Amino acid sequence: MPARNVDESSYAEPDRVRITHLGLDLTVDFSAKQLSGTATLDMGWHDDTANTLILDTRELAISKIEGGDGTGDWKPLTFELAKADAILGSKLTIHMPTADKSGQVRQVRITYATSPTASGLQWLEPSMTEGKAQPFMFSQSEAIHARSWIPLQDTPGVRFSYTAHINTPPELIALMSASSDPAASANGNTRSGHYDFSMPQQVPSYLLAIAVGDLVFRRVSDRAGVWAEPSMAPKAVAEFADTEKMIEATEALYGPYRWGRYDLLVLPPSFPFGGMENPTLTFVTPTVIVGDRSLVSLIAHELAHSWSGNLVTNASWKDIWLNEGFTVYVEGRITEEVYGHDVADMERVISQRELQKDIKPGGDIAPADQVLELPPMTGRDPDDALSAIAYIKGAWFLQFLEQRFGRDLFDPFLKSYFDHFAFRSITTDDFEAYLRSELLTKKPTAVTDAEIDAWLRKPGIPAGAIAAHSARLDAVDAARKVWLDSGTLPTADVTGKWVTQEWIDFLEGMPATLTAEQISSLDKAYHFTGTPNAEFAQRWYPLAERSGYSTARPEMAKFLQAIGRRKLIIPTYEALVKTVDGLAFANEVFAKAKPGYHPITTASVSALLAKAKPAN
Ligand code: BES
Ligand code: ZN
Repeated sequence: MPARNVDESSYAEPDRVRITHLGLDLTVDFSAKQLSGTATLDMGWHDDTANTLILDTRELAISKIEGGDGTGDWKPLTFELAKADAILGSKLTIHMPTADKSGQVRQVRITYATSPTASGLQWLEPSMTEGKAQPFMFSQSEAIHARSWIPLQDTPGVRFSYTAHINTPPELIALMSASSDPAASANGNTRSGHYDFSMPQQVPSYLLAIAVGDLVFRRVSDRAGVWAEPSMAPKAVAEFADTEKMIEATEALYGPYRWGRYDLLVLPPSFPFGGMENPTLTFVTPTVIVGDRSLVSLIAHELAHSWSGNLVTNASWKDIWLNEGFTVYVEGRITEEVYGHDVADMERVISQRELQKDIKPGGDIAPADQVLELPPMTGRDPDDALSAIAYIKGAWFLQFLEQRFGRDLFDPFLKSYFDHFAFRSITTDDFEAYLRSELLTKKPTAVTDAEIDAWLRKPGIPAGAIAAHSARLDAVDAARKVWLDSGTLPTADVTGKWVTQEWIDFLEGMPATLTAEQISSLDKAYHFTGTPNAEFAQRWYPLAERSGYSTARPEMAKFLQAIGRRKLIIPTYEALVKTVDGLAFANEVFAKAKPGYHPITTASVSALLAKAKPAN
């Protein structure tokens, strides 16, 4: 399929020329917080009149660019690096020799170095790691941060294979989103400081990933395993023991896992996301390691991306529901297979309630953004356009189709969708056309055009949507109501059987504020202040702050400093900035926490603090 210029978040012109392969040769320098070396791009020309190659970059220092014809003969090329745009970075224009037909330059080799403030990299001092002895570095390329560590066509509409040679301090291990040199991995764990990687499949730029640190490998199954810092490895391998079962469950539904190995890399707590689906090597936050496997649907989610996202990819960030909505749907199916309907339904109910909160008038998501096919990203950072709409409305749409057509028709349809579009980048229109020809024709009366249009292009949740239901959460809601009405808390034999999702629902359904007596009696009964479960902390500290429960402040500060996962800490900052005293406390905590935060998290918290308007 021809790549189209549909991506406002990239300067690239893939209609004219497309990268087909990337070769990296980089050295990791912890003291300079810098990657330096070369990126060699193989190109395919699709427009005879084109005589420039336009790439995306951000804060890269480019020292040399050469052109080659594939025979190893390199000639210098001239180039211009434009002034940086705050969102897109600097457009790099490389001129092809006019004497040549443009098509004759088959490769460009760019010699460059990254900036210590690269938005897609985090450099951690040893003190910010579990082991405290070695530094750590990792990338987060999605959505448009790959350009801060590699000059490339940074759009999900362009796919390429890659190879890499990475030089590190000899005592550290380098990993990438690719198959690695056997000497450095599972079998050997030999640390040489020189590592080779190869990703033979065509992947979009946002799936490029690298991590370097003091890492060890533990086996989960023949094709799955865990990389973690040595002291974290035993806990991690116990928590993620069901990984192989999850892979098999997904294969049974949607066909073979096509990426060879599926390993997990446990990052330090500053990792700004819960997980990131880097091919062959999911990056995961340590905050899901709570000891009882209750948060491992996050692994189901990242694994699901091996089909939805990594295999069939959104062509631009406007269509991100094709990645995230499909993935939440598949995640639910995996959870159902491995942990049962009860758990899957509880998660669906919790997420649908979250979405309902976000889209009601005055909620976080404006009506214009409540559509699956998002408006053009011009002037907007795609990281900020990401919301519960793509994830939860997206998944809900697929659940709606599943209900209308039945699993007998819907499951084979989804499997054939992954096969049909495998290793391609598509738009919502491509999906819709396929849906019409391959599913709607099977049962023409099952859905109307207006219903499909409402899901894809109208705000809100369409009228025909059936909400998920969970009897276990109904019981939790009833227990909460009894407590709010009468002051009687559920007994230990009830709460003793609650899993994380039930506790989440118990907290999530609380009124905006509680009385001093209510909040302290909750804390006395369940010890939420200082909880090691960050999903509880995410909900408890904002409630405590809104209820004026300052007893929680010291532990709240520790939580905000220990963890950098955006979703977990933002709600507490949001609660703090509502009052003058809270804002002062938030600024104080942020000043201490900031050196340990990832650039993406720092950007979100800074923006929130800057626009704060405390009420008293
Ligand atoms: N691919 C996303 C993370 C992402 C999306 C990063 C868009 C940057 C831009 C990842 O798969 C994800 O969705 N992570 C979630 C986990 C979850 C919903 C289980 C997260 O990090 O919270
Ligand atoms: Zn995801």
